[in-house]
Amino acid sequence: MEFDTVVRNGIIANASECILGQDIGIKDGLIACIGIGLPVSASTSVIDAQGGYITPGGVDSHVHLEQWNTPTGDTWETGTRSAVCGGTTTVLCFASQNQTDQSVLPVVEDYLGLAKGRSACDYGIHLILTNPTKEVVEKELPLLVRYSGITSVKLYMTYHPMKLGDREILDIMVATRRLGITTMVHAENHDMIELIIETLEQRGQVEPYYQAVSRPKIAEAEATYRAISLSELMDTPILLVHVSSELAAKHIRDAQTRMLPIYGETCPQYLYLLSDRLRGENFEGAKCVCSPPLRERPEDTDAMWTSIANGTFTTFSSDHAATKFYAEGGKRLGLINGRPVFAKIPNGLPGLETRLPLLFKGVEEGRITIQDFVRVASSNPAKLYGVTRKGAVLPGYDADLCIWYPTGKLEPFVLKNSMLHHDIDYTPFEDMTFTNWPRYTLLRGKMGWNRDDGGFIGKFGGGNYIKRTVSALAGPRNVFVNEWRPPI
Ligand SMILES: *[C@@H]1O[C@H](CO)[C@@H](O)[C@H](O)[C@H]1NC(C)=O
Ligand SMILES: *[C@@H]1O[C@H](CO)[C@@H](O)[C@H](O)[C@H]1NC(C)=O
Repeated sequence: MEFDTVVRNGIIANASECILGQDIGIKDGLIACIGIGLPVSASTSVIDAQGGYITPGGVDSHVHLEQWNTPTGDTWETGTRSAVCGGTTTVLCFASQNQTDQSVLPVVEDYLGLAKGRSACDYGIHLILTNPTKEVVEKELPLLVRYSGITSVKLYMTYHPMKLGDREILDIMVATRRLGITTMVHAENHDMIELIIETLEQRGQVEPYYQAVSRPKIAEAEATYRAISLSELMDTPILLVHVSSELAAKHIRDAQTRMLPIYGETCPQYLYLLSDRLRGENFEGAKCVCSPPLRERPEDTDAMWTSIANGTFTTFSSDHAATKFYAEGGKRLGLINGRPVFAKIPNGLPGLETRLPLLFKGVEEGRITIQDFVRVASSNPAKLYGVTRKGAVLPGYDADLCIWYPTGKLEPFVLKNSMLHHDIDYTPFEDMTFTNWPRYTLLRGKMGWNRDDGGFIGKFGGGNYIKRTVSALAGPRNVFVNEWRPPI
């Protein structure tokens, strides 16, 4: 067989083990084989990994691009470009139902239309449900699963005007259980937060820092436990998104110990940043406003690392939900006539490009293993969300690869926003020191990022839409019962 590309001299890292001393042969965008001393012809391009790790291309399963409510964020082009430059080859983004939308079919169609021909990496979409009418849940969701390959929904327990009540969540769970699709839940107790915000405002405590005060850990832990209870009653798998604190992680762990189908996700900001980042001159703290907020103490960031290492967290995503700082309609919306109002600061951080390097730092520093890295950054998100042929370096899989520098080869460097490829005027990880970074990224065999020569060389529109299948990881516990019935 003649290969289009052969990758040599790398340590191939999968979620199960590492393979040494073998080449990867790529043909027609797929990994054709892994073997010793693969033959090359005059037309084969050869990539020498020089002893660096080769991990599966990143699967970032929580990304917000061009939603109508983030007007100053990244576009499909700039967001996916930054993904590729950070080793990520698949993103899952959100089509979002407005509460006034009676049908979600046009919502999905519009969002797919927006992305078409623009993405530099492969992509799929989740659906955010804010108005789960009978029609939407019983008639439209099955159509989306069957014809559009949309096999996950996201629900909010907080935020006007997206918040759902428990009853609405239960109704959705009946449907998602039947369809075998993944339900993502943003778990924070809305009423607690609303009361605290009002109280802080009355007291004039309106600086960005108070955003962290307004969303305490107990609000996250309570809603997490409640979501788990709803899921247990309904025997429906759920994924708790962007978990930020130790007690919430413990609720997830306890549920898993009881063999409930509960999954958890965390994000780079909850591994590295504390709420002191919300202080600072000139409203700079607004740059780090996200929900759940950054936590006060390193106990929580440490617990997030532990929860990756001990398997509590299933996935690790960026929750890229970027808003520029200086642009009109950006982070400074929270500055009204020169006076800060933290509750008006748009939520969210940029992080598509820095996600993998930040997690890889944890491998280099011995906090997690390379297998943990691959599991939460690529393999599990692919399995959980029904993305077949991605998330592993194995024959038959897409040739999506992220090739790292050999340990010690790259001079340690300090990150500057100007090095990144998003269209956001800051990174919360400015000035952090890195000792590695994705050197090459391949999307279905084509090089899209070459850090040493050419930088971003991918193609807008080169990414394919992924019609996803039902989850390979998350099924109801009692698979013999098709329809949910009340437990006796
Ligand atoms: C959703 O509603 C908001 C106003 O609440 C509007 O500005 C926006 O355009 C709507 N989005 C869509 C996709 O209809
Ligand atoms: C694993 O992580 C969970 C959640 O953070 C924690 O409660 C538990 O103590 C951890 N277990 C071990 C053995 O580290």
